[in-house]
Amino acid sequence: MARTVWDSSVGKKTVMAVSGLIMLLYLVVHMIGNLKIFFGPGEFNHYAHWLRTVGEPFMHYEWTLWLIRVVLVVAVVAHATSAYQLSRRDLRARPDKYVHRKARTSYATRTMRWGGTILALFIVWHLLDLTTGTVHSGGFQPGHPYQNVVDTFSTWYGDVIYIVAMLALGLHIRHGFWSAAQTLGVGDRARDRALKTVANILALLLTAGFLAVPVAVMTGVVS
Ligand code: HEM
Repeated sequence: MARTVWDSSVGKKTVMAVSGLIMLLYLVVHMIGNLKIFFGPGEFNHYAHWLRTVGEPFMHYEWTLWLIRVVLVVAVVAHATSAYQLSRRDLRARPDKYVHRKARTSYATRTMRWGGTILALFIVWHLLDLTTGTVHSGGFQPGHPYQNVVDTFSTWYGDVIYIVAMLALGLHIRHGFWSAAQTLGVGDRARDRALKTVANILALLLTAGFLAVPVAVMTGVVS
């Protein structure tokens, strides 16, 4: 049964929609959390510490965080695998594979594929930058994300990488949220229009909220 659903295109699209919505929920929380940087290092670093102790004493140190990480990894893998398989299926279904490839792929589809690839690369960079510190520009300080964020956005390439990724994220969410709603069958005509508006607002708020941090460091509001 599960195998049949997974093998069908509708099944894969459903997996994409549900995993996408899980990641979207995480992003809304992450974006709001990031905005705490405007309240200074004390509050921002305290928030990062809380992320590790949340649920105590029932949960052990970092258990909740690891639970969230596992859910996110499952969501990312499911999302990327179904996207890749749907793309392959789409290519195979074409009668003339090599002719007018561009014209046959819609603007939205191309944006989603490029956006998805940029975001996948970005997530790897971001984790190596601000979670493990492996590619971090300054001296990475575990437990001091405020200073780490300021270091990242004090380099031109840090700003470029994050700004490009956040713009890709906005476009990806704008179309992705809309597609998910279609797949999950929420739409009739009036609701379609409302959902498009919700998708636009969500994409705009997330992009602006995330971009506020690098912009604040670049302009010296956060230092
Ligand atoms: C300007 C934008 C962003 C900033 C300033 C930012 C900042 C941070 C910081 C400081 C951490 C480390 C938190 C800690 O260890 O306490 C972190 C972790 C993380 N961020 Fe972001 N982030 C941004 C955008 C994003 C985006 C767009 C995504 C996803 C597409 C994302 C996904 C993650 C993930 C998965 C983690 C790891 C959480 C964990 O497992 O510890 N971030 N971010």
